[in-house]
Amino acid sequence: MLAKKTVILGITGSIAAYKATDIASKLVQDGAEVRVVMTRSAARFIMPLTLNSITGRPVESSMWNMSSEFSIGHVTLAEVADVVVIAPATANIIAKLATGVADDMLTCTVLATMAPIILAPAMNDNMFLNPITQKNLAKLKARGFITVGPGYGRLASGKIGTGRLAEVDKILDAIKQVMGQKSDLNGRHIVVTAGGTHEPIDPVRYISNRSSGKMGYAIAEAARYRGAQVSLITTTILAEPAGIDITQVETALEMKTVVAQVVKDADALIMAAAVADYRPKSFAKAKIKKESSSLTLELIRTPDILTEVKGNFIRVGFAAETEDLLANAQKKLKEKQLDLIVANNITDKESGFGVNTNKVIMISRNGRVKDLPLLTKREVADKVLDRVVGLLNKRS
Ligand code: CTP
Repeated sequence: MLAKKTVILGITGSIAAYKATDIASKLVQDGAEVRVVMTRSAARFIMPLTLNSITGRPVESSMWNMSSEFSIGHVTLAEVADVVVIAPATANIIAKLATGVADDMLTCTVLATMAPIILAPAMNDNMFLNPITQKNLAKLKARGFITVGPGYGRLASGKIGTGRLAEVDKILDAIKQVMGQKSDLNGRHIVVTAGGTHEPIDPVRYISNRSSGKMGYAIAEAARYRGAQVSLITTTILAEPAGIDITQVETALEMKTVVAQVVKDADALIMAAAVADYRPKSFAKAKIKKESSSLTLELIRTPDILTEVKGNFIRVGFAAETEDLLANAQKKLKEKQLDLIVANNITDKESGFGVNTNKVIMISRNGRVKDLPLLTKREVADKVLDRVVGLLNKRS
């Protein structure tokens, strides 16, 4: 499975760094092309020469080593990677990655890569359990990073706790699992929408909703990972995922125009955006002054993008409901002639707006209902894409 695959093995400054030699060795034995990137602190725990000898390749540790083919193009490693594994991953590297710091070869590689990234944390138990580290890890996981461990047991300090590097075999399993994933959206063009539209009242105010855009971003990113060409049409700009064509729009009308244009050659349209159903009939060019004791705004209907944009692509809708989830979603599936609808109860704290988790029901055109457990939005994204892949394969 790993033959001819390029594995970037990032090693950071933990005492568990010595175990990375075993990981590197087993990867080489499995036929992988292993490129080791060490941080400066990692090089205090183990000699780069050790990894150099195991992998038969120079170890990268500086962006300023001009004799290295990779230092010159500091993102070259990111481009050749099939998978990036950081083992051990310290609290420090986790924090840097969570905030997008790119101040050495390893962080630059991770920030620039489009390959899947696996983290195997190893640190003192208090550092691991610290809410800051937990928050950073949750942020990275929500963005698709895969974590393995840490395990519970004896730590370097002699204490018993959670913070040990996961067993080497477990880390290798995770790598193989990721590499075994099919690029099942290769050659497909997927259009995704995200965020709530803004419908302007005057130059200062607008009508909108609480949609954060996180679900749409998760789908766009997951589709990209699975090999698709992805167009994301969004009202909100979150951390920009690599390799995705993003168009920012504001209103429902703008979203419709861009979707209609972009979807022409697409295989699927996934409307995760919360599109306003009504907009102010007129836009006041000057700021509306508070002159009277009440103000009436006349609203008119916006176009229904899912229904009105024509073409021969798979249509996936979302149904954000506060009651009668199943019945309302089934009605929308039928009325909008969708292939699939993904319904969630937005009054539920864990599947409402702005959070990283979602609990959804998927309903297919043939009436099949699948009730999913509480998952991260990224996991939901993959479940939705599994269905899209199935529908696309059936078509062809
Ligand atoms: N949608 C759309 N264009 C609109 C409104 C909604 O394409 N003008 C899409 C959404 O992106 C979503 C699906 O239709 O994929 C359902 O949206 P939702 O807001 O749940 O339902 P509505 O159709 O707007 O109906 P209601 O607000 O009455 O529940």
